[in-house]
Amino acid sequence: MQYRRLGSSGLQLSALSFGAWVTFGDQIGRGVARELIATAWDHGINFFDNAEGYANGAAEAMMGDVIADLRLPRDGYCVSSKVFFGAASEPRPTQKGLSRKHVTDACHAALKRLRVDYLDLYYCHRPDPETPVAETVWAMDTLVRQGKVLYWGTSEWSAAQIREAHKIARAHNLHPPTMEQPQYNLLHRERVELEYAPLYAEFGLGTTTFSPLASGLLTGKYNAGVPDDARLGREGFGWLQRIVVGDEGERRIERARGFTALANELGVAPAPLAIAWCLRNPHVSSVILGASKPDQLLQNLAALELVEQLDEPIWHRLRSAAG
Ligand SMILES: NC(=O)c1ccc[n+]([C@@H]2O[C@H](COP(=O)([O-])OP(=O)(O)OC[C@H]3O[C@@H](n4cnc5c(N)ncnc54)[C@H](OP(=O)(O)O)[C@@H]3O)[C@@H](O)[C@H]2O)c1
Repeated sequence: MQYRRLGSSGLQLSALSFGAWVTFGDQIGRGVARELIATAWDHGINFFDNAEGYANGAAEAMMGDVIADLRLPRDGYCVSSKVFFGAASEPRPTQKGLSRKHVTDACHAALKRLRVDYLDLYYCHRPDPETPVAETVWAMDTLVRQGKVLYWGTSEWSAAQIREAHKIARAHNLHPPTMEQPQYNLLHRERVELEYAPLYAEFGLGTTTFSPLASGLLTGKYNAGVPDDARLGREGFGWLQRIVVGDEGERRIERARGFTALANELGVAPAPLAIAWCLRNPHVSSVILGASKPDQLLQNLAALELVEQLDEPIWHRLRSAAG
């Protein structure tokens, strides 16, 4: 495993990390979840990503249970939660968003579900137009000073919103956001590569990026239709299928086919290749992987070696093939 600093902080995260969305508390059982965490840990992964909203809190409960069962040393791993969407299936106004109340309640609930005394990373899962940014920055700073959170950050905030949070923190001597959690893959590059570009030097912003395979699209598994047993074929995931496959103008399936054809030509599995492409970006602190089966995770871990093996002209061709 390779370890990278989370932006300009001193926290060293594994370059590949592992997240719970769709899988934990929903798609997979406890046995598979245990095997996945054990495999990740055995290969040097030290950051496990979660959120209050994943399976209405059941993802955090399953992860906490499995980590406790595996007896991972608390000082050897990092665990995250995210606040915004709420854990209730129909959240009341105080059970979602980024108000001081919900940010605080959600932190306490995540600590219980994950069975830890503090969260290493705690994210605002989306910006909240109903809460002044200053209220959220103060609430996060309080949790940090109470020792309940070590690093706080944002997920899918605009560069302007991140700047505003920093400005408030600087003015009042509060802890500013350390990291962002944006989507980043061969089909979705602009935010990480262009919009945030000035923030890396300006604030030492770290990034823990998600969906390196565009929910599986870049493995090629959807090239000829949607298999029932894959994420996009799952009941209730029609909304995600529409986003991932996109409309005709976006040509996302076509671009995924172009990418997988080139991977095949190179004799490399598309999944680790797409992940290696994310790892190549030095502004990425950690690429969060998702997997519903241990074999997928093992295949994806090969991305680390691919980064070293492939040369610049190949990366250029891969970028062009993905459109
Ligand atoms: N902050 C946010 O808003 C946000 C949003 C999304 C995700 N995240 C975080 O980022 C993590 C990773 O995101 P993601 O799960 O969307 O990542 P992803 O890598 O784009 O998709 C993972 C899914 O692709 C399939 N897959 C993975 N490896 C494969 C392989 N080698 N061969 C075939 N299929 C494979 C599996 O689904 P199937 O087997 O079911 O097809 C797996 O669950 C999440 O768990 C979560 O922690 C955060």
